[in-house]
Amino acid sequence: MQILLNNQSLNITEQQCRQPLLNWLREQQELPATKEGCGAGDCGACTVLVGRWQAGKIHYAAVNACIALLGSVSQCHLVTLDGINQGDTLQPVQQALVDFHGSQCGFCTPGIVMAMMAWWLNTPANPMQSPSDLSRHRHDIEEALSGNLCRCTGYHPILKAAASLAPFTLGGEACESTVVGLSTREVTTYLSSIDEPAKPLSYQQPLTEQQLALAIDAAPEATFISGGTDLGLEVTQQLYTREAYIDLSQVTQLQQIKRQDDVLHIGSAVTYSQLQDYIQTDVAQSSRAWQKLLPLIGSRQVRNKGTLGGNIANASPIADTPPLLLALQAQLILQAGTQTRQLPIAEFYTGYRQSVLAPGEYIRDILVPISDQQVHIEKISKRYEDDISAACIALVYELVDDQISQCRIGLGGMAATPVLAKHLQAALLGKVPTELDGEQILAWLREDVTPMSDVRASADYRLQVCANMLTHWFTQTQSNQVGGLT
Ligand SMILES: Cc1cc2nc3c(=O)[nH]c(=O)nc-3n(C[C@H](O)[C@H](O)[C@H](O)COP(=O)(O)OP(=O)(O)OC[C@H]3O[C@@H](n4cnc5c(N)ncnc54)[C@H](O)[C@@H]3O)c2cc1C
Ligand code: FES
Ligand code: FES
Repeated sequence: MQILLNNQSLNITEQQCRQPLLNWLREQQELPATKEGCGAGDCGACTVLVGRWQAGKIHYAAVNACIALLGSVSQCHLVTLDGINQGDTLQPVQQALVDFHGSQCGFCTPGIVMAMMAWWLNTPANPMQSPSDLSRHRHDIEEALSGNLCRCTGYHPILKAAASLAPFTLGGEACESTVVGLSTREVTTYLSSIDEPAKPLSYQQPLTEQQLALAIDAAPEATFISGGTDLGLEVTQQLYTREAYIDLSQVTQLQQIKRQDDVLHIGSAVTYSQLQDYIQTDVAQSSRAWQKLLPLIGSRQVRNKGTLGGNIANASPIADTPPLLLALQAQLILQAGTQTRQLPIAEFYTGYRQSVLAPGEYIRDILVPISDQQVHIEKISKRYEDDISAACIALVYELVDDQISQCRIGLGGMAATPVLAKHLQAALLGKVPTELDGEQILAWLREDVTPMSDVRASADYRLQVCANMLTHWFTQTQSNQVGGLT
């Protein structure tokens, strides 16, 4: 396999494909500017830019190098801090951090420079015209940097440094070539000249479903990997690397999102960032729930790699999308060889981290109804951004003559798998929402789930917070909007 690392074209051997990108950069390429902080995707110190063809141009996305396997970024333009350093001349992002005192010990700074760079490159060159542009801009900056922890400078100077970049011409080819050290034309020429990737059996990266079928035939025991934001942790935290991977992330058919009637067909390899872009302006109640939930999943770096398919397939009880998918009655399309089957997500989970997936079977599409019923979603975690749920609650309901005629409640972090609260749902039918009582909701909820106590929350807290949230939604938010406390 090949890669364009900064301005150098390199071959990657089969043995190197399964190792973390960060180790390869620091130890084998001797590029030490990319730092290791946590080694778990949490701190952002290892942020690099991964450039791929997208919608007619090269799109550079910020990615955590510590949990990305090298094979996953082959055939890309990889830009690291060593690559953008140009002697004594600072890049505008670096100069802004100096000017606004955005660095103290400096350990987080390489990652912050790269995350800020990604935001800067992807921000259209629209001049700001009003105060609301400024606050929108600030929100975007905070989102772009939410995966980068700084323990000593404090975030205010860093955010001010990013905001100061606004008067520059943002985005555009001139800016890109300054940042990545090559002109867009040079990168494009390189990427289009790369031969079809060789297919090492231990890390296959098919580009089409036909190639995927061949890859599975050639290595039936291989582990599927999409964004690798769960599987990468195995490598860095448990020092466990699988014998062979089949990377689903570049299979064209699995990367598509389309709307058919009132159903979104989401390819399983669609990343959170792509889904966020797709639904950002949709006004349906269910889309607004997604708009609320997606920014709360991981960080920008995690959302640039993590996929909906991986979040469902890992069968974690604290995965954040299943509660909403359960409440919206999503369906899954599963593919094994030439066999396709469709089933409701409610029938997918069979136990703690277990599902109905057979060996060699993968999730191809997720079919998500677009709903204008009342839709509410809340993720309860210790930190607002880049944190795992203690509980996640999704509610979809409808009223007829002021009484609840339909109701589905998806729960995460409350049982061994994501579940629907079936007893509670049944008990709520025919009730008038404003007359509901929190104690009664809590009692019904206890019939559905017996959550665990762990470092994130006690069982009692989990039950109480779910009951409180549901009571609040039913009794306080009768207006036509996606509700929830934050
Ligand atoms: C720092 C950090 C923060 C995180 N924050 C959150 C969070 O807030 N909320 C949350 O829910 N999760 C979070 N996660 C977990 C992770 O990002 C998500 O679960 C993500 O959706 C996993 O998707 P992936 O494509 O990266 O999965 P991968 O790691 O590629 O795969 C995960 C599992 O799914 C299987 N798999 C992947 N795709 C398919 C498919 N199409 N068909 C069959 N099997 C498949 C793989 O074999 C593997 O078992 C976080 C992770 C990190 C590192
Ligand atoms: S080293 Fe902390 S996110 Fe990679
Ligand atoms: S400058 Fe020290 S951690 Fe950010």
